[in-house]
Amino acid sequence: WASSAHTHEDFLQCLTLHAGNSTSSISQVIYTPANSSYSSILEFSIQNPRFSTPATPKPLVIITPLHVSQIQSAIYCSQKHGLQIRVRSGGHDYEGLSYVSDVPFLIIDMINLRSISVDAENGTAWVESGAIIGEVYYRIAEKSIKFGFPAGLCPTVGVGGHFSGGGYGTLMRKYGLAADNIIDAQMIDVKGRILDRKSMGEDLFWAIRGGGGSSFGIVVAWKIKLVHVPSTVTVFTVNRNLEQNATKLVYRWQHVADKVHEDLFIRVGLTGANSSQEGRRTIQASFNSLYLGGIDNLLLLMQESFPELGLVREDCTEMSWIESVLYFGGFPSGESLDVLLNRTPLIRPIFKAKSDYVIEPISEVGLEGIWERFYEKEAETALLIFTPYGEKMSEISESAIPFPHRAGNIYKIQYLVYWEEEGIAATERHISWIRRLYSYMAAYVSKSPRAAYMNYRDLDIGKNNKKGNTSYRRASIWGTKYFKSNFNRLVHVKTMIDPTNFFRNEQSIPALTAW
Ligand code: FDA
Repeated sequence: WASSAHTHEDFLQCLTLHAGNSTSSISQVIYTPANSSYSSILEFSIQNPRFSTPATPKPLVIITPLHVSQIQSAIYCSQKHGLQIRVRSGGHDYEGLSYVSDVPFLIIDMINLRSISVDAENGTAWVESGAIIGEVYYRIAEKSIKFGFPAGLCPTVGVGGHFSGGGYGTLMRKYGLAADNIIDAQMIDVKGRILDRKSMGEDLFWAIRGGGGSSFGIVVAWKIKLVHVPSTVTVFTVNRNLEQNATKLVYRWQHVADKVHEDLFIRVGLTGANSSQEGRRTIQASFNSLYLGGIDNLLLLMQESFPELGLVREDCTEMSWIESVLYFGGFPSGESLDVLLNRTPLIRPIFKAKSDYVIEPISEVGLEGIWERFYEKEAETALLIFTPYGEKMSEISESAIPFPHRAGNIYKIQYLVYWEEEGIAATERHISWIRRLYSYMAAYVSKSPRAAYMNYRDLDIGKNNKKGNTSYRRASIWGTKYFKSNFNRLVHVKTMIDPTNFFRNEQSIPALTAW
């Protein structure tokens, strides 16, 4: 600690000197444990309280830059004084990598760099990394109800991590991922250079759209291409439990979800639930959908493709696309759109998550094996989400951006388990449950590699050496799961842009020169 304290003083001195004329403003955006607001700034964006315990390592310094020059100074001084940088935008990283490290570190928190400027005439927008996606949707709708953007469902997710790791939501079957719709970016590299698409070159621009920004530098802003949405969309949520044929419906869903019209997105949420029969637990399958059009067309489409669900007009609600954002964000109907500007999530439970890709429909027996695991105690607040692929997701080539999960995938599974009790014992019990389920699922999901979604960060699938440099071989264990063969190109780009592996974390792309 003594040497860290020394390092951090030297670092602060360096910042003050290096910031030159803007000294006064940089001092306003630096927080050390001696500042009374240090804890609240640190805690504010922590989305997973699993990484907010007294034992969690804390940063020596938090910087909330107001200007790009302050980021440049922080990068320069961190290298000079041997501090690691963690960049945080919305703080939703599942494993807390944007705000936790085992080595002395600082956080660059992008919260003050969050402006959004929408150009409705040209159908584009510049979005700073510190913005949340709820605000992106809000600002787009404020300018024009004709446009939307295909990113995530939870409005408090940060643009910085989300766009750089892929980013999907209800529009993905028609328009692909957020990262598929980025047309320019501004980032700062290890040398402190401010780069745009032209000056960074196509390799680096490719890498930061899905390969995770934090391996390559600090992304300050993204230029996005807006997509067209109709004036009326329709949503529905239809719940069916085992007594209402849930197993057969989920089995059938697997045969239609990726093949239906691109305007129709139907995901399934699976939870354990108490059945109406006293004392018995059941499984509830929740079919949750966005259709880009009105009820009449939706009913026709459902009659053709998925009549077994028994969707009726009364299940459906027509609304505007921006209202559907609130619906999928979990807000009650009639809520003001202003809630999209709120950075505090509705709930903030402790959780662990994992992901998988499904290539062949899972048999009914296979599904029943999942249900059995839902009857265990730890699964009381577990949730599985099946998200359909197909259409645009299949049309884009595997190597267009680093995100490789395209044609051939029927759907993605997200496994989530939540709990309230604090302490190691509860954590271990719940993590052990999700790992057991994951190992049961091995027979039913993609293999060699068993693919995973980078934005659902999971350190169980492999991690780099604790202290720093990691071999290509070690990193490729997790890297090929997230990126398949795109991992090699990511290593190539990393080696070019950050040969000393300054920007690193437990799952950062390794530089070939650094080991
Ligand atoms: P955070 O700030 O924690 O950053 C995540 C990673 O990106 C870290 O490695 C960080 O260093 C790096 N990073 C952040 N800003 C950077 C920058 N400016 N430059 C370089 N690197 C940067 N996903 C999805 O696709 N669809 C969805 O619907 C959802 N929904 C959802 C709900 C909830 C409640 C959670 C907790 C998460 C999701 N996600 C999701 C996952 C989400 O996309 C993922 O966690 C993102 O990485 C979060 O980005 P943040 O900026 O919030 O995270």
